[in-house]
Amino acid sequence: MSMMETLGRVRAPDARLPFARPPSPRRHHPLPMPPLDWNEDVAKATAHLYERVKTVVPSIEWPFFAPYIVAINALKKQRNAVILAHNYQTPEIYNCVADYVGDSLQLAREATKVDADVIVQCGVHFMAETSKILNPGKTVLIPDLRAGCSLAASITGEDVRVLRERYPGVPVVAYVNTSAEVKAEVDICCTSSNALQVVESLGSDTVIFLPDQYLAKYVASQTKVKIIAWKGACEVHERFTGDELRLYRDSDPSLAIIAHPECPPDVLAEADFTGSTAHMIDWVRAHKPKRIVMVTECSMADNVQAELPDVEFVRPCNLCPHMKRITLPKILDSLVHMREEVVIDPAIAEKARRSVERMVHLKS
Ligand code: 13P
Ligand code: SF4
Repeated sequence: MSMMETLGRVRAPDARLPFARPPSPRRHHPLPMPPLDWNEDVAKATAHLYERVKTVVPSIEWPFFAPYIVAINALKKQRNAVILAHNYQTPEIYNCVADYVGDSLQLAREATKVDADVIVQCGVHFMAETSKILNPGKTVLIPDLRAGCSLAASITGEDVRVLRERYPGVPVVAYVNTSAEVKAEVDICCTSSNALQVVESLGSDTVIFLPDQYLAKYVASQTKVKIIAWKGACEVHERFTGDELRLYRDSDPSLAIIAHPECPPDVLAEADFTGSTAHMIDWVRAHKPKRIVMVTECSMADNVQAELPDVEFVRPCNLCPHMKRITLPKILDSLVHMREEVVIDPAIAEKARRSVERMVHLKS
């Protein structure tokens, strides 16, 4: 385990503040709004998709979702668009309209390979920015520009410049849960699935790691590198406690507990496994426990439940209000009107690309 020091501003900006509208998004012609009636044709066309989600989407809700799913899948073809969806998206998005699903690293890698003209990012703003940074020729849309992240909102580019002055020569690693402006100021990015590897790849005995203090603590517990951390936190994962998990474990000692490394250390101490959202899903696929708590955002348990109906998910889960801003009606609106387009100042995007590509190209 390494030494660790934590720094931060007294008060972080509000994660719910809307992002500044980009100065000059491209002009696109809107398409007519498709019909959204529930009828026999729609029921037939979506029956195979309902099969995938029937354990987690009540049948009474399907007549609302299905017309949107038909309309979105048709509009994707018209717009030559693909949907990249994070593992925290709701089951009807994750299973019925997404072309690629995954954790932040998988989505970033997919973004580099997209051939289609348009990427609709079903996730949060930093994920859409990462896609734009990695594939700048594409039109990247986010269905709700207000889908932020408490971690990304906890630090600015100016904060990174101050850190660099305070610790000259110390390399800076940014979790991808940061703005393009922050990515442009750092040496390399990381995600929760490669944070340790990224820190150790730098060959330095000290590393500044921002902005998640808990991911930083988790990395520090696995390495000899001294970590200087920023005091940011995920508003979803910091709400879990070791005490609540001990209560679950006491009531069923055979219960499996797996957690995301954005959780506080007392939570990770109770976990049988800690990993990124993709690594957590892989763990459930490999171990197929009878009962499990996934200590992370709620929708992920729904998505894994749809795939593995025999596993029982105990759900002390928390919702990410930012991820939940993305809905089928907003995805449809996005494709009809081609909004909201993610635009990054080219000079910032070029600097940020170096940090993100350095991570993406790291050999695993
Ligand atoms: P993953 O990269 O593990 O999917 O995490 C992203 C995130 O925002 C978790 O809260
Ligand atoms: Fe950000 Fe936490 Fe939501 Fe992930 S779950 S997007 S880290 S606020």
